[in-house]
Amino acid sequence: MKSIYDPLIVDIVLDNISNGVQAINEKGELIFCNRPVAIQDDININDSLGKHLLEIYPSLTEASSTLLRVLNTGEAIYDFEQEYSTYKGKMIHTLNTTLPIKKDGVTIGAIEISKDITDVKALSEKVHHLREKTIKKEVAIIDDDAIYTFQDILSVNPKMQLLKSRAMRAARGDMHLLVSGETGTGKELLVQSIHNAGTRTKAPFIAQNCAALPSTLLESILFGTQKGSFTGATDKPGLFEIANGGTLFLDEINSMPMELQAKLLRVLQEGKIRRVGDVKTRQVDVRVIAATNVEPNTAVAEGKLRRDLYYRLNIISLEIPPLRERKEDILLLANYFINKFNDALYLQVQGVTKKVEQIFLNYNWPGNIRELEHVIRGAMHILDGKTIRVADLPKNMTGYQEDEIVTLKSEYADLKTALISVEKQFIERAMETSGGNITNAAKDLGIPRTTLQSKMKKLGIEL
Ligand SMILES: Nc1ncnc2c1ncn2[C@@H]1O[C@H](COP(=O)(O)OP(=O)(O)OP(=O)(O)O)[C@@H](O)[C@H]1O
Ligand SMILES: [Mg+2]
Repeated sequence: MKSIYDPLIVDIVLDNISNGVQAINEKGELIFCNRPVAIQDDININDSLGKHLLEIYPSLTEASSTLLRVLNTGEAIYDFEQEYSTYKGKMIHTLNTTLPIKKDGVTIGAIEISKDITDVKALSEKVHHLREKTIKKEVAIIDDDAIYTFQDILSVNPKMQLLKSRAMRAARGDMHLLVSGETGTGKELLVQSIHNAGTRTKAPFIAQNCAALPSTLLESILFGTQKGSFTGATDKPGLFEIANGGTLFLDEINSMPMELQAKLLRVLQEGKIRRVGDVKTRQVDVRVIAATNVEPNTAVAEGKLRRDLYYRLNIISLEIPPLRERKEDILLLANYFINKFNDALYLQVQGVTKKVEQIFLNYNWPGNIRELEHVIRGAMHILDGKTIRVADLPKNMTGYQEDEIVTLKSEYADLKTALISVEKQFIERAMETSGGNITNAAKDLGIPRTTLQSKMKKLGIEL
């Protein structure tokens, strides 16, 4: 390239750009250095010119200096990340492009254009560190901490009994499994029980929710990373390696991106994983138990779960029925939770009223057992007395349910009888809330005490 400019102009430009520019001759001596490099590397340009590069940068070697490497090989190096310390001990990170200077095909020197990325690097490491910290929170590493066993799964429902015995059999085997059930039906409880009843009970139990992380992070969390695979990546084992010998619980597998599901299937088939950015594969011995909170067939039909992965996992089907389909468990579990919170809160609650039982049996429990647990805990915090009453329940449960209105419609042919029934229910509820106190119940209903008394007599409501 020819220039019609005065070299002085070139010097001014080179001294005032943000990139560093340095050049060496065929002996490796510094022949050019602009101001940004001098400032960045704490060197005095006049003292350094003519000196060998390794004399100026004692922390570098023939091999680690990109300038000297290019001088020796005659080949350019683009965007190379270099780390070195100045003679004052300051650590510098640069991104270099180094080119040979050739004359008649012979390398007579090298020139390097470098960008100081020390601050960017520090910032990226900070971001990476923060990200790792948040991931660690998301990745519920419950190493050796599967606490539940089959004895903790309470049920008198025949479908549940069958499920339990099937799960116990599955626990003794070693195949990968798929557990499904609506939210709060006890999937985690069942998965932990399977781990604890099997041969892997002494090995780690690791749980990861696949919906909690973006897909690229999920991949590196599951399979690990190899240094250099992306900026800031270090050599790190993934959950498959950490869970080696034990169980890996992949919750909400239907939220895992399809490509990652394909990779997972390969791992299950081959028993080998490859860290992100690595060339070699590693043998792992992990039992995978996946879970979905939607019906697996629906997840497959909606394209949320790969069919081949579903077949691979679903050799033994473990579907937990929702609470509304096992009504006989509702009062059993309600009493179990009452006892549990009696112990925790130092209370002596004895049970629920008949009316509460009825509401519990008619309610559809969208949040299943977890919801029942919360309802009982909530009631026990506000309750005044020894029995959980309608007034202690959340409002959404005690208002008229869709089902109740439908029942009313089908039970009572005419409006008059339906109104009488509603009136009766209102009065009974108010009496229950007031603990049998007529004055308070009348106040709640907004009618005089005497009116309430005569209505009770007419409707056959006893105190
Ligand atoms: N059969 C059961 N007997 C006793 N407790 C149960 C039973 N099933 C569930 N529980 C309790 O209900 C709560 C919810 O259970 P779990 O966390 O296992 O549900 P989940 O299906 O994993 O829910 P999600 O889909 O929301 O993660 C837990 O406190 C658990 O101990
Ligand atoms: Mg769960």
